[in-house]
Amino acid sequence: MLNPISTLPYTLSLADAAATRDLGWQLGQVLPPGTVLLLEGELGSGKTTLVQGLGAGLGITDAIDSPTFTLVNEYLDGRMPLYHLDLYRLSAAEVADLALATYWDGIEVEPGIVAIEWAERLPSQPPSYLLLQLTYDAIAGRQVRLDAIGDWVTLAPILFASA
Ligand SMILES: Nc1ncnc2c1ncn2[C@@H]1O[C@H](COP(=O)(O)OP(=O)(O)OP(=O)(O)O)[C@@H](O)[C@H]1O
Ligand SMILES: [Mg+2]
Repeated sequence: MLNPISTLPYTLSLADAAATRDLGWQLGQVLPPGTVLLLEGELGSGKTTLVQGLGAGLGITDAIDSPTFTLVNEYLDGRMPLYHLDLYRLSAAEVADLALATYWDGIEVEPGIVAIEWAERLPSQPPSYLLLQLTYDAIAGRQVRLDAIGDWVTLAPILFASA
C-alpha cells in the first residue's frame, strides 16, 4: 500500500478497518527506532486501529488497546519498543507534565516508535515526525493523509519506496 508514495502529503482511502490496520502494519515494517507518529482525527476515526496494526508490524503480540485510562502504554515484546499515548482526556497542563520529549529524544528510554493519539493537543511538536490525519466524509469515505515534518521530508519517500 505504501509503494506508490513518492511525494508527500499523500492521501489514501481506507475502505474498512482491515485497511487501516494494514497501513499500520506496513509502517511497523519500515519505521526506524526514534520515529514519532502523530495521529489526528475525530473520535472513532481509526487511530487505535492503526496503532494495533503498527504493533503487529513490529512483532508485538501483547494486545494493544486504547490507553485512554493510562497515560502511556509501553509494549516491549516487539522488534523495538512501542510507546502508545492518547491525549484525549488530558488537560494542557497534564500533557505538559508528561515530558513527552523524553520519548522522542530517546535518552531515558530505549528508542522505539512513539504513537500519539489526539496529537492535536500537544503543546509543542517534536522536531521531526510523521503526521497521520484520519478523516471521514460521506463522499470520500474514510481517508488518511500522510505527511512528513523535519528529517522525515527526505526520509519518508526513500523508506516507503522500499516497503
Ligand atoms: N477504515 C475504517 N473503516 C471502517 N471502520 C473502521 C476503519 N478504521 C477503523 N474502523 C473501526 O472504527 C472503530 C473505531 O476505531 P478506533 O478505536 O481505532 O478509533 P480511534 O480514532 O482510536 O477512536 P478514539 O478517538 O475514541 O480513540 C472501530 O470499531 C474500528 O474497527
Ligand atoms: Mg483510540
